[in-house]
Amino acid sequence: MSGAEHDLPVPDDGWSDLTAKMVRLARPSGTGPGFVNPPVSRGSTVLYESMDAMRARSAQRYEHALIYGAMGGPTQSLLEEAVAAIEGGRHTQVVSSGLAACTTPLLAFLGAGGHCLMPDSVYGPTRRFCDSMLRRLGIETTYYDPMIDADSLHALMRPATQVLFAESPGSHSFEVQDVPMLARVAHEHGAKLMLDNTWGIHVFQPFEHGVDVSIQALTKYAAGHADAVLGAVTVVDQADWVVLRDSVVQLGQYASPDDCWLTLRGLRTMGVRLERQSRSALIVARWLQGRPEVARVLHPALPECPGHGFWTRDFRGASSLFGVVFADRYTPAAVEDMVAALAVFGLGASWGGFESLVLPTTGTISRTATLARPRLPGPALRLHVGLEAPDDLIADLEGGLAVLRAASA
Ligand SMILES: Cc1ncc(COP(=O)(O)O)c(C=O)c1O
Repeated sequence: MSGAEHDLPVPDDGWSDLTAKMVRLARPSGTGPGFVNPPVSRGSTVLYESMDAMRARSAQRYEHALIYGAMGGPTQSLLEEAVAAIEGGRHTQVVSSGLAACTTPLLAFLGAGGHCLMPDSVYGPTRRFCDSMLRRLGIETTYYDPMIDADSLHALMRPATQVLFAESPGSHSFEVQDVPMLARVAHEHGAKLMLDNTWGIHVFQPFEHGVDVSIQALTKYAAGHADAVLGAVTVVDQADWVVLRDSVVQLGQYASPDDCWLTLRGLRTMGVRLERQSRSALIVARWLQGRPEVARVLHPALPECPGHGFWTRDFRGASSLFGVVFADRYTPAAVEDMVAALAVFGLGASWGGFESLVLPTTGTISRTATLARPRLPGPALRLHVGLEAPDDLIADLEGGLAVLRAASA
């Protein structure tokens, strides 16, 4: 592959705006000489000068005030401010993991006898939470086709529907959802629209499209170095913030200041990492599209991805996670042989870090989906493209595809 073939147009993704924002934000306050970055502030007990001061501070739980360590501190607040700026929201709450960022608002906005709508392509552990914990609490979940139209969605809404959940693009199957339509329908029925916006970080501005609650697994691109687990929930409406914050405090949801500090550091470079990773992912995806072993590439920026039109309409760019589906003459076992032969791509869960990863997803997609949707033509892999050179990634995949062919001969 020559350098000229890599000369692809960079999408108008605003990565430099993001970098400019992240260089400025979350600086220590105060005047005079000082370090560029804030310190890690660890603590549980907060000392007050009087009972009056203690009472006054406790009343400020919705204002990110320092009250007690378990309710957050200065490091958490700085990260919350930065994430709210990325998402275009008003208040952010950091929580212990990306999964907690999905489950906490579900617990906050759903009640016994309530009903929740989930896309059939949702992240597996979120699905499990609905099918076990929410069910035990008397909350019913209905799965819907992520490519559903407005009429069919109206038909699924019930008087008890409190939450319409979306994840765009879908985990492993990468359907891009019509979020503005979902917001219209949810609001007509008095429900909240929650979006797992981890893939769309920065390139999809959730609140401009009618989302009420936006979720980030900060573990991925924000932390960015595969060394922290963290989540964030962002809202724009003050009444939603009160509901969310009360639930967070009641649940004892907490994020460690050390992980928040690492994530703040990750955010400084997230724009430049994503600029590079997004471009490299598109190079690798386009190369895979031209390979005879490949049936489809599930990358939202490519026309063959379900919902590509919504991506073109609503997104400013793409991140670096996508799927590849092989022709049906290849077996899942042969794909596992291919994965074993890869040396640059590591085998592992998670994504968004500096390193390229691969994960077989055939079983995951078919095992978890409950609706009768069109099946993928063959076995599938999820690829996360990191900071390595696209030529090295392509050479690695070329070697892997030779093993795939040999294993299927
Ligand atoms: C779309 C999505 N949401 C949420 C999560 C959960 O994040 P965490 O691993 O931080 O719990 C993941 C993790 O892979 C994910 O892919």
